[in-house]
Amino acid sequence: MNYKHISLALLLLMSNLPVIAGLVMNLNRYWRYTPGYELRKGVYEKVNLPHTWNTGDALGGNADYYRGLGNYERNLEIPAAWKNKRLFLKFYGVNTIANVFINGQHVGEHRGGYTSFTFEITNLVRPGEHNTLQVRVNNAPQLDIMPLLGDFNMYGGIYRDVELLIENPNCISPLHYGSEGIYLKPKQVNEQSAQVEANVHLNGQAGETLKTEITVRNGEKVILKTETHNTLDAQGQAVATIPFSIHNPRLWNGQADPFMYAVELKIYHNSDLQDDAHTKLGLRYFRADAHQGFFLNGNRLQLKGVCRHQDRPELGNALNKLHHEEDIAIMQDMGANAVRLSHYPQDPYVYKLLDEAGFIVWSEIPFVGPGGYRDKGFVNQESFKENGRQQLKEMIYQQFNHPSICFWGLFNELKEEGDNPVAFVQELNQLAKELDPLRLTTAASNQGGQLNRLTETIAWNKYYGWYGGTPASIGQWADKAHKEFPNTPIGISEYGAGASIYHQQEELKKPVANSYWHPENWQTHFHEQHWMAIDQRPFLWGTFIWNLFDFGAAHRTEGEVPGKNDKGLITFDRAIKKDAFYFYKANWNTTDPLVYFAERRLDKRSNTQQTIKVYSNQKSVELTVNGQSLGRQKGHYGRFIWENISLKPGKNILLAKAKSGTQDKIVIRIEDTASSKF
Ligand code: GCU
Repeated sequence: MNYKHISLALLLLMSNLPVIAGLVMNLNRYWRYTPGYELRKGVYEKVNLPHTWNTGDALGGNADYYRGLGNYERNLEIPAAWKNKRLFLKFYGVNTIANVFINGQHVGEHRGGYTSFTFEITNLVRPGEHNTLQVRVNNAPQLDIMPLLGDFNMYGGIYRDVELLIENPNCISPLHYGSEGIYLKPKQVNEQSAQVEANVHLNGQAGETLKTEITVRNGEKVILKTETHNTLDAQGQAVATIPFSIHNPRLWNGQADPFMYAVELKIYHNSDLQDDAHTKLGLRYFRADAHQGFFLNGNRLQLKGVCRHQDRPELGNALNKLHHEEDIAIMQDMGANAVRLSHYPQDPYVYKLLDEAGFIVWSEIPFVGPGGYRDKGFVNQESFKENGRQQLKEMIYQQFNHPSICFWGLFNELKEEGDNPVAFVQELNQLAKELDPLRLTTAASNQGGQLNRLTETIAWNKYYGWYGGTPASIGQWADKAHKEFPNTPIGISEYGAGASIYHQQEELKKPVANSYWHPENWQTHFHEQHWMAIDQRPFLWGTFIWNLFDFGAAHRTEGEVPGKNDKGLITFDRAIKKDAFYFYKANWNTTDPLVYFAERRLDKRSNTQQTIKVYSNQKSVELTVNGQSLGRQKGHYGRFIWENISLKPGKNILLAKAKSGTQDKIVIRIEDTASSKF
């Protein structure tokens, strides 16, 4: 819900005025934090949110990083003038369990680290007096909260925003699974018309009749205004249902035209405005076909996908808006048009940005299996299953109005061993379809068996040429899987190889995955081979690179430093794009001219005969070595290769230039082996 945001100063100024409708106050600042079980008086650290306590240990590669209790406390000023208001606390992400207290009284508990939740505190606060808000957070492993494990850090803390919602007694419910309380259901959409049903959850005084008014705008222009009336039941609840249609709708059409209508909802009691909310409506239709891949609004769209985790060095998962914006700008620069938000729901702001940028999104619950490990991802007990259902409902309800989301992911790398998750995945699939019949379900598998046949589409995590095998096998595997699943759309949910920008080698040699040495040129080769094979197989509905960014994985002891999964195409700090990034950019970004020397970090070489490779999205590229032109080349899959180029001992200056004027320059030093002999 797009509340009117107010600052504390403004709020105190306004405290004697009546609040009109639905205000929100950000509570990110002025917290007191103490780790552990014991809460000694006066001992705390001042922190602002977003915050995690695991930046030092988990990011330092300490596999045994602290997973336990953390305590947050702050003052809550509630002006006396608000005694007739309803107050709610909204948390956008607390990992993993949050217990909330007002003035020492327990308000509620939320279990699960990746979704929003809201508690009403109206009757617990003392307006005009000093109030205390306390949150006890626990990120210790729990056998009944997803995820049980994963190749990523479970940073503890209040790592997303916290808000105070100030509402009138009658309002759009903030209590329905932490969502906006507004669901815009595109029942049927095509170029001629869109049939939509708005469901608005109302909450207030039992027996009162409320008017819900919806206004749909195209920019400033009102294209539709309609209303309905509902009487709140004995629990003070009602769902206002408003069907409407739009003729010749302008569709949300991915990156080509990510258009959205603006929707405003006003709630009235008699003629008094009670609540006012704003959201967006993106109208589109899509499907996945077992033989032809993904279609958006009737047109085939090759999905060029990446996976993304939500962490950074020094910050862990405590990211702010600028970080999310930067990540999405990088995806756009690369030319990607699809993203798998692995392995859990991410910050609501991320989905907003992805809607606006026209990405196709796979959003998933953290039902993560053991992959290659001995551990379990599923425990067959009711409390685990109930938590899984809850997390799925929260994800779907909270993200319902985002046109970018086309796929709900239900699991990653589960196994049918021990507690067999098949029946439960079946149940989750059914639940997802009940809540949202129009989106497709999917999953990321790494097994054969029944698990692959439970969701409407399926994808696999594949590492040919990294954990084993050779990159060339990916095509053969895909053809075989296509035959085995003739009626199911299949995709690749992950493919990737580790690389350090500091590990440069002259020969192209496959490294050992769990060793220190993760040479960059092997990752580049891996991706070149994979993308060429993928591109030639249009039956794949979507493929997703693992991973766009290096990310924290405290238990890992491989690559240049421990504690990191280095399969990113970009370094953890987002500072350096590895060569493979530019290979994709040359293939995927068709608008911004690119000329880029691959293997630029291998700046000292031993042999005067060299192969030079340039990535470019231009038709032809000219190479000049030490001022002498070696002519133009045409490329294949964005690769422009000059073989047997003679360089001189010592310093060589190489320049690559396209007709557009775009160019790149590097220096390669050939070690003078004669003079270096001693
Ligand atoms: C798995 C898993 C990821 C993991 C990746 C890897 O398939 O889904 O979470 O990081 O492989 O090994 O790098």
